Amino acid sequence: MFQLTRSVTWQALKRLHADTAHDRIADYFTADPQRFDKMSLRVGGLFLDYSKHHISAAVLEKLLELVDHSALVQRRAQMFSGDIINVTEDRPVLHTALRNVGEGPLMVDGQDVMPEIQRTREQIQRFSEAVRSGEWKGYSGERIKDVVNIGIGGSDLGPNMACRALLKYRHPELNFHFVSNVDGAHIQKVLSGLDPATTLFIVSTKTFSTQETLLNAKTARRWFLEHAGEDADVGAHFVAASTNRKAAMAFGIREENVFEFWAWVGGRYSMWSSIGLPIALAVGFEGFMEMLEGAYEMDQHFLNAPHDANMPVLMALIGIWYINFAGAETHAIVPYDQALHQLPSFLQQLDMESNGKSVDIFGHPVDYKTGPIVWGQTGSNGQHAFFQLLHQGTRYVPIDFIASLKPEPGMEDHHFALLTNMLAQANAFMEGSQKGSELDPYSCPGNRPSSTLLLDELTPKNLGALIALYEHKVFVQGVIWNINSFDQWGVQLGKRIAGEISERIDEHSQDFDGSTQGLLTLVREHFPS
Ligand code: F6P
Repeated sequence: MFQLTRSVTWQALKRLHADTAHDRIADYFTADPQRFDKMSLRVGGLFLDYSKHHISAAVLEKLLELVDHSALVQRRAQMFSGDIINVTEDRPVLHTALRNVGEGPLMVDGQDVMPEIQRTREQIQRFSEAVRSGEWKGYSGERIKDVVNIGIGGSDLGPNMACRALLKYRHPELNFHFVSNVDGAHIQKVLSGLDPATTLFIVSTKTFSTQETLLNAKTARRWFLEHAGEDADVGAHFVAASTNRKAAMAFGIREENVFEFWAWVGGRYSMWSSIGLPIALAVGFEGFMEMLEGAYEMDQHFLNAPHDANMPVLMALIGIWYINFAGAETHAIVPYDQALHQLPSFLQQLDMESNGKSVDIFGHPVDYKTGPIVWGQTGSNGQHAFFQLLHQGTRYVPIDFIASLKPEPGMEDHHFALLTNMLAQANAFMEGSQKGSELDPYSCPGNRPSSTLLLDELTPKNLGALIALYEHKVFVQGVIWNINSFDQWGVQLGKRIAGEISERIDEHSQDFDGSTQGLLTLVREHFPS
């Protein structure tokens, strides 16, 4: 059986790592003045500079061999055509179909899925236009002013991140709120500022069975009924994005206000589906479609560009180099853009839930590292928090810097400071400094790698392309590691045990370990039956 770590290419990469370990990234630029031109590329409104990496031309060539010898071409074609690649859940993985703006059918199980995708798009269009125009009325005849999305994980992070990123395109009379945490403090705080007569709740849950979301949705409905309308009015204030139409209707949501999607859309890949409804409400249906178009453009690039000029493939290989050969444990996402402040959290779920796996697609344990710990926060703030460790600490952390080039009118000076800070940091990480000068009494070793991703402007289209880029990067890494990037059994285990514990709170159950039993005793005191 093929063993990745025994392959000739893997072994050659290990040797190359040993041979180049003491190279200085900065010297690569001296040796090759064309390095920036060679190691940068543009796709639509996105520009990637990957020249500041500890990657020589020989290393890049070998990394590309790794992808050539992988199942990428086959697995990618399978994903886009709806074959079952999520083998443990026996499902296709078709988020790419949701942003397919091309012509032609897409057959899954002998059925063309495009007409139903189109139907749901039309439903999103009708609804978002009605709410945005004020034609949609609440129970007392007033227009909607506040939209509350109730969901968690993929049913929160995507729309939450996108609504914040696209804030400047938002409808001026609509405010958006996101409730995810089962901690009652979250929903309490959001509801405390709202008027039930002008509030719309979107219950976003693929399964309509997630404890946190159902509890929050019930609390919202109770609050609505206590302060305002009657049972019959719930329909004007609650809609759902879910694959579980029956459960949504049992909750009181009108059939025509259940925005459907399908089992083949993974939670963390669902912002392109009905889960993106808050985005359509915020930026309008046209803006939502522009976001899909940006993603589609990246899909086409991913499908058609040669591997050595393929942005997601290159980003995946760079990650693999650091994780599997240079020993990096983590990967930092640092957007120099306040509007992208939720991006690190979004990418954390995308990457860590997808590639946090230790068995391959056949269920065999892997003998190599897989997905990294993804973390980060906005740049300018991060500089004054964790950058010190990145500059002089003992950890080795590759960084993705992300920024948009176009300044906001009237904010040119801020934007200039933002971008120059980012460039300064990327330069400082690479060059470091020598001990002894008056300015730098203590040395910074430098030689710390980073990519820089520039968006021409943070538009819906470029945001769509950016997210699709990371989705495909994660996919390529999953293919090379031969793992299933589309299940999440670890999360399911936690969900199941939470259910068991809450069911047995009254029992002196011996089923749990001694620590859990002891802690349950303490919890029980506060919840007398
Ligand atoms: O975090 C695990 C997960 O299953 C995610 O994949 C999903 O986005 C989230 O839970 C919420 O699930 P649901 O949308 O069914 O409420």
